[in-house]
Amino acid sequence: MPPFAAEQVPAAAPLAFKVNSKNVQYTDSHIIADYVYENATVTKGVDGSYSVNPTSVKYTFKTDAKVPRVGLMMVGWGGNNGSTLTASIIANRHKTTWTTKEGVQEPNYFGSVVQASTLKLGVDAKGNDVYIPFSDILPMVHPNDLVLGGWDISAFNLADAMSRAQVLDYDLQRQVKAEMATLKPLPSVYYPDFIAANQSDRADNVIPGTDKHAHVEQIRADIRNFKASNHLDKVIVIWTANTERFSSILSGVNDTADNLLKAVKESHEEVSPSTVFAIASILENTPFINGSPQNTFVPGCVELAERHNVYIGGDDFKSGQTKVKSVIVDFLVNAGIKPIAISSYNHLGNNDGKNLSAPQQFRSKEISKSNVVDDMVAANNILYKEGEHPDHLVVIKYIPAVKDSKRALDEYVSEIFMGGRNTISMYNTCEDSLLASPLILDLVILTELMTRIEFKTEAMSEFAPFNSVLSILSYMLKAPMVPHGTQVVNALSKQRYAMENIFRACVGLPPQNDMLLEAKTQANRK
Ligand SMILES: NC(=O)c1ccc[n+]([C@@H]2O[C@H](COP(=O)([O-])OP(=O)(O)OC[C@H]3O[C@@H](n4cnc5c(N)ncnc54)[C@H](O)[C@@H]3O)[C@@H](O)[C@H]2O)c1
Repeated sequence: MPPFAAEQVPAAAPLAFKVNSKNVQYTDSHIIADYVYENATVTKGVDGSYSVNPTSVKYTFKTDAKVPRVGLMMVGWGGNNGSTLTASIIANRHKTTWTTKEGVQEPNYFGSVVQASTLKLGVDAKGNDVYIPFSDILPMVHPNDLVLGGWDISAFNLADAMSRAQVLDYDLQRQVKAEMATLKPLPSVYYPDFIAANQSDRADNVIPGTDKHAHVEQIRADIRNFKASNHLDKVIVIWTANTERFSSILSGVNDTADNLLKAVKESHEEVSPSTVFAIASILENTPFINGSPQNTFVPGCVELAERHNVYIGGDDFKSGQTKVKSVIVDFLVNAGIKPIAISSYNHLGNNDGKNLSAPQQFRSKEISKSNVVDDMVAANNILYKEGEHPDHLVVIKYIPAVKDSKRALDEYVSEIFMGGRNTISMYNTCEDSLLASPLILDLVILTELMTRIEFKTEAMSEFAPFNSVLSILSYMLKAPMVPHGTQVVNALSKQRYAMENIFRACVGLPPQNDMLLEAKTQANRK
């Protein structure tokens, strides 16, 4: 995006609400909230019975309330997601309307949790729920204010990339074309071995040479230049480029931060382009999110992020089939119904589908789609014996004619009461990039917000950032990364509550509950 003129720099937005409590302070720059985190520790006795001890830990959360000027750099900017998101932000900024056979369409941010969902703030005097936009819970960047940039191995400008993607309506493309044509991805890192061979014909915008250390330095310079030339306070980098094959985890190569940096200096063949981008971002103190399934965050890369206290998040946007799965299986298992077979078929015809038609890249996707039910199954030892799992199959096929309009067919077979069977069949059709693009916004906006939140417990003398691995982003991700040794949560409703409740804690509000006790305990009418 061209830089903002000085007068367009977004001003600090007034707070949408204030919490009246001795536990919450508002200073000129910060919201500071004292919060008691209540939980319970459980131990199992030799007789199999549980002993439960309620716990409470006092936290103070400090949030910098000034929304900075933020740049979003996309790796794979000229792809379907990158070009669709860019055109959509331009249309939203200019309130561009366009006409289809259904009539006049208006731009929106539907599909973004931050921009298009609400959360309950509390109840009014009559006991009715009061909702606010999710984006009002704490000061957050507005997508229209993001400064966009990025890299692509394809030299297409964003107008041509949007036309190649065939996602947005022609009348909209026509109107944003001139502005899109001014945007051109920077040359990128291309190691042909990591993505499908069928992508080679679009790789005409690559950083020359095979020196991986030089590549890291080039990406670092790109981030610094983008930040300086656009007068940005912060940049977030997101990988929305092709799915890569998995990197082998090799001791002495990518198992520790030092070994990984050494492997980069030696241009080791197992260092992937996405890991090069992650390393460069971390070294520039810039958060990095991985929207594809591959293991960009090899152990050495995670250690490097922790060493530099930089946020990382991943893996793989959770946009369609897996998102639904993380709802349906949660519902079935919590209803006491036992899924025994989940068969998922997809076909799609965009460039993502073409890349995934190669076995190694499909394998990355298959892995990220496979573990989504594990925690829900493990949580119910009435339905499942230890180690027991439903059969689970994932198939993806490339059918060029359906383009970006992905088809997902799912069959859930469950065991019900007294040996009965319940079969749910689903057929979902949608424009893949129109689901994924708003997720990019959520990931970026929430990551930026997290860079402004610090916490302190009574045992700590200084405020500190959260763990570098941002598991709070799990809602948007198929195979959520979590801090080392902690549990993965896949169930969508739990992921949503985690986000909401952590942000509520930052403004001194208790966790969301739907007890509605005031209604349920009301005296009977005489
Ligand atoms: N669209 C969805 O719903 C969805 C959901 C989950 C995950 N994803 C993942 O997001 C990624 C992007 O999806 P898409 O539909 O935009 O794909 P796409 O193929 O249209 O775009 C990817 C872009 O990345 C570029 N590219 C490849 N290697 C690169 C590199 N090393 N550096 C810079 N650019 C590079 C390609 O030229 C292309 O323009 C894919 O990996 C996909 O699996 C998408």
